[in-house]
Amino acid sequence: METINIGLIGTGFMGKGHAMAYQMVPKIFSPAPAFPNLVVVGDVTEDLARKGARDFGAEGWVVGWEQVVDDERVDLVDITTPNNLHKEIALASAKAGKHIYCEKPLALTGKDAKEMYEAAARAGVITMVGFNFIKNPVALLAKEMIEAGELGEIYHFRGSFHQDVLADPNAPFSWRFDRLIAGSGALADLGSHVIEFARFLVGDFERVCGLAKTFIEERPLAAGVSGYRSKATSEGSTRTVENEDSIHFLIEFKGGATGTIEASRIATGRKVFMAYEVNGSKGSLHFVHERMNELNVYLSTDPTGRQGFKTILAGPEHPYYESFWPVAGIGLGYEDMKIIEVYELLDALANNEPAYPDFKEGWKVCQVIDAVLLSVEEGRWVSVEEI
Ligand SMILES: NC(=O)c1ccc[n+]([C@@H]2O[C@H](COP(=O)([O-])OP(=O)(O)OC[C@H]3O[C@@H](n4cnc5c(N)ncnc54)[C@H](O)[C@@H]3O)[C@@H](O)[C@H]2O)c1
Repeated sequence: METINIGLIGTGFMGKGHAMAYQMVPKIFSPAPAFPNLVVVGDVTEDLARKGARDFGAEGWVVGWEQVVDDERVDLVDITTPNNLHKEIALASAKAGKHIYCEKPLALTGKDAKEMYEAAARAGVITMVGFNFIKNPVALLAKEMIEAGELGEIYHFRGSFHQDVLADPNAPFSWRFDRLIAGSGALADLGSHVIEFARFLVGDFERVCGLAKTFIEERPLAAGVSGYRSKATSEGSTRTVENEDSIHFLIEFKGGATGTIEASRIATGRKVFMAYEVNGSKGSLHFVHERMNELNVYLSTDPTGRQGFKTILAGPEHPYYESFWPVAGIGLGYEDMKIIEVYELLDALANNEPAYPDFKEGWKVCQVIDAVLLSVEEGRWVSVEEI
């Protein structure tokens, strides 16, 4: 079996998720298409990098990211840093001829994402973007049902991603609130997943019209670590939030369907309310990630008087599930979607074929984000082609 040597950059929330997936893929998928071998991790301080290497079982660690890309052993560069670094690291990786696995959103702007896509395509390297929610077996079932025409003509897509992880006004200012590091707020961070879902299930966007708002305008400064793990300093100083807490936008799809997407990082009571509903001429699908092993299906072909939403529990009849467990009802978790994502990436690398979603798809999502932001700024409908 071929070994893929991996250099992981960033050891935070997602760094851990990717590292766990590398360890689990050969155990879940036997035989794995290739063996993922984590050779080096990079982070901003020696403490973080050393800890990452120890916890994730990597052979070595470095401070920063450049040495990861330059490391001759590394075949695949894995980017789990905050958003602003994705472009620089990806361009350097493509130049070095390395395959690239990058977290979402691919870049801060559609223009940057396109540059990354073109550089990777020129270099002939394989790319993947971490839109893991579409790897849920019931998401793949939803896709199968729509493609088979079971819902008929698709009329509507309504999607949302609501969380309350940052609803506390005392949650400190971390990189997610900094426009230069994160780009937009709830839209890029949470909404990007839903945009990918809408594209995956329904198709290309024609135009969008959005409304964004920042409700918590000042936050205490953070001490220590970055991301969700950060704590406020005791000094009482604050910093102004630079991007939106919430986004709502209307969609017209190229194929004629209409829809809405909403995302909020301050939606009290919601944890990972990543939800979608698709309505078609013959039926509907409804899903919410907080019950991630359930797909709710309504078919108007059911007999009159017996119609209604039914819940299909994820099971071995659905894509990938059987590799995990032989019976329905045990259920998969968040990490299992990352395991499926990494499996597909290794399969693509072993067979020298494109992975999905790749940098081209990551660029298309960033293009929609830009169109929504322009629409918010100018208070009008914006066609995605304008971007
Ligand atoms: N797919 C998903 O479901 C999902 C979930 C969360 C985050 N993300 C994405 O993953 C990325 C990281 O988010 P996170 O929540 O893991 O953030 P995080 O803050 O928890 O971790 C980021 C890590 O990158 C490190 N880092 C920063 N600058 C660096 C540099 N110059 N060189 C090396 N390391 C550096 C930080 O020290 C930190 O350890 C973001 O793009 C985010 O949008 C995706």
